Amino acid sequence: MAAVLATFRLNGRVAIVTGASRGLGADFAVALAEAGADVALVARGDLAPTAAAITALGRRALPVAVDIGAPDAAGRILATVSAQLGPPDILVNNAGIIRRAAFLEASEADWDEVLNVNLRAVFRLSQGFAAALAARRAPGKIINTASLLSFQGGLRVASYAAAKSGLAGLTRAMANELAPLGINVNAIAPGYMATDNTAALRADPVRQRAILERIPAGRWGAPADVKGAVVFLASAASDYVHGITLPVDGGWLAR
Ligand SMILES: NC(=O)c1ccc[n+]([C@@H]2O[C@H](COP(=O)([O-])OP(=O)(O)OC[C@H]3O[C@@H](n4cnc5c(N)ncnc54)[C@H](OP(=O)(O)O)[C@@H]3O)[C@@H](O)[C@H]2O)c1
Repeated sequence: MAAVLATFRLNGRVAIVTGASRGLGADFAVALAEAGADVALVARGDLAPTAAAITALGRRALPVAVDIGAPDAAGRILATVSAQLGPPDILVNNAGIIRRAAFLEASEADWDEVLNVNLRAVFRLSQGFAAALAARRAPGKIINTASLLSFQGGLRVASYAAAKSGLAGLTRAMANELAPLGINVNAIAPGYMATDNTAALRADPVRQRAILERIPAGRWGAPADVKGAVVFLASAASDYVHGITLPVDGGWLAR
């Protein structure tokens, strides 16, 4: 194998992927396993299909059924993974929710739920993960799933835009303090991807057409479109990359 390709290999690494039951997280988890990692899969729903795809690759998969919004979630996830797969080296904070409503009608309950899952849970899990790495003086990688709404305001998604813009800031803040410890913190900003998260947009013919017309690549993204980016940011190939939010958006932000 060419030397540069070897820097993308993840053999012997242990990764945690939140939101791995479906959508982007399932493909992130499989991508990391294809590159050689063992993967802990976190979600509330059925993790068996993702786990089966990983074991079929000859890697270990550990389903961890946890609601990441719970206050004790981070501690439970990190303890379970360390005990059953070994100390984790890679954390992909991908689980996320969206609540759509006009700003004038948006509820505080939705605000709290979105900020709790999309931002506070990332803070908690990243802090626990980085503290464990620091305690054993090990390097590591944190990859957050940001959004185009880390750069833009969007429509009818104020809580989501606030959380994802906050996530880009948290990515930079963590990168500044964790880079000296050998921990890379970066984010991926997927464009408009055909998953459950965007089902409401794709079901609305007017919004669906308006979005599609603005994407230079001429199509909605698929989870497979972000697999290369997560392997890059999880691997030694990105050791000098800190604090970025990398758009994988078919050119949307270039318009
Ligand atoms: N689709 C897009 O166009 C797009 C664009 C930009 C960014 N994103 C971001 O990409 C990430 C993945 O989105 P997706 O499109 O793949 O969404 P999705 O298909 O709705 O999947 C969301 C995942 O997050 C998990 N999850 C949600 N709340 C959770 C909780 N409280 N505890 C544990 N797991 C939880 C879900 O698992 P369970 O329901 O089984 O718990 C599921 O695995 C999100 O952060 C999203 O904001 C998506």
